[in-house]
Amino acid sequence: GKRSVTELISTKAQALSGELRVPGDKSISHRALILAASAVGESTIEGGLESDDVLATAAALRALGASIEMDGELGWRVSGRGVGGLAEPGCVLDMGNSGTGARLLLGLCASHPFSVMMSGDASLRQRPMDRVVAPLSRMGARFWTRTGGRLPLSVEGSGDLMPVVETMAVASAQVKSSILLAGLNAPGETTVIEPMATRDHTENLLARFGASLSTEPAENGAVAVTLRGRPELSAQQISVPGDFSAAAFPLVAALLVPGSRLEFAGLGVNPLRIGLLQTLREMGAGIEMLNQRSEGGEALADLAVIAGPLKGVSVPPERVPAMIDEFPILAIAAASAEGPTRFAGIGELRVKESDRIAAIAQGLEACGVRLEEEKDSLTIHGTGRPPPGGARLASRLDHRMAMSFAILGMVSEEPVTIDDAAPIATSFPGFVRLMNGLGANLTLGGAAR
Ligand code: S3P
Repeated sequence: GKRSVTELISTKAQALSGELRVPGDKSISHRALILAASAVGESTIEGGLESDDVLATAAALRALGASIEMDGELGWRVSGRGVGGLAEPGCVLDMGNSGTGARLLLGLCASHPFSVMMSGDASLRQRPMDRVVAPLSRMGARFWTRTGGRLPLSVEGSGDLMPVVETMAVASAQVKSSILLAGLNAPGETTVIEPMATRDHTENLLARFGASLSTEPAENGAVAVTLRGRPELSAQQISVPGDFSAAAFPLVAALLVPGSRLEFAGLGVNPLRIGLLQTLREMGAGIEMLNQRSEGGEALADLAVIAGPLKGVSVPPERVPAMIDEFPILAIAAASAEGPTRFAGIGELRVKESDRIAAIAQGLEACGVRLEEEKDSLTIHGTGRPPPGGARLASRLDHRMAMSFAILGMVSEEPVTIDDAAPIATSFPGFVRLMNGLGANLTLGGAAR
């Protein structure tokens, strides 16, 4: 279909204040739908994220035979087909912008005896799928892909996959989850060894739905996850916490806009997701975590954040998986901090919704910030003063770049214009209204260009 393009202008903000709840966690929302569709009976999901990415996963699961009713107020109701019980879709699965939806569903479909065709938007069609195509092929599925394992692709799955022990080359929760979802309908045990611990929402939810699995530390910080195949999954009542990766945008804005104070209620604070908090605290940020609790195997808390000066730091490579989606917004904080901030071991950022190293570098340089870009690292030279700003920046079909540049405009001397804010809807519907309600000055234009 034809996409509409919407320009966004961000002008210096007033002090931000208030209490807010951000939309539900994107990672957990995808996984809750997928596992509910694989369970027997009717599951309910409360607080799920109704964004374009998650809606694409829901539409794909419907095409695979699950019944999903979504009502923001009442929550979602999902009637599952049981492990191995999905049906061949009669259409191409269009995963839109969502790498998570695409990779997780490829694992799920690979373990069924039918064929699936999948595509996505221009961003998703550039992203590497060989990282799931290779292990799923070793398990016994057959793929026809574009060069480099890119979408569009077809997969012919098998109801009789081989259980494997897969050692992953990159630390990726999407790859880990894809293999585990394939292993769900394989006989015996499937083991995935990840080089560094990544978000464990799939494991938490698998356990919740009744699968038997174990997580063991391996050598040099690696982690081995083993799942016993063909469990009986039974319907669950799931409550989705607020998305920490969405909260990161107003959170950094509150640190940077003088006089701000924000409180976040009901945020997911899974330890494998909150590397940004540690980094910001090392930079001198005033962030308090309150009312820590746990719900359905996931950590929850409230956060209080107050504005104050930040200083540059170095983010160690071993912290990268725990803040993989937060580098664009941390780069905005770094541009206002005093002294250099260095990110190393961030090569994976080049294959996200956009090449985020290039996008950050180009956007910040256009706004008068000095930096050095290398293949898998970035050094940003903050001056301890607001960046000059005053540029028109490209969001590159990348929601996190669009939101990061919107925050940049809230603190810079001159306004920042984002060429297309439409991608924000992939993860954070209502972002502009929510930010303006807190004190931002974000103006959506008509169709630009
Ligand atoms: C996600 C994992 C991460 C992250 C993405 C969501 C997930 O990707 O960047 O936004 O839900 O599993 P990788 O696993 O590819 O690093």
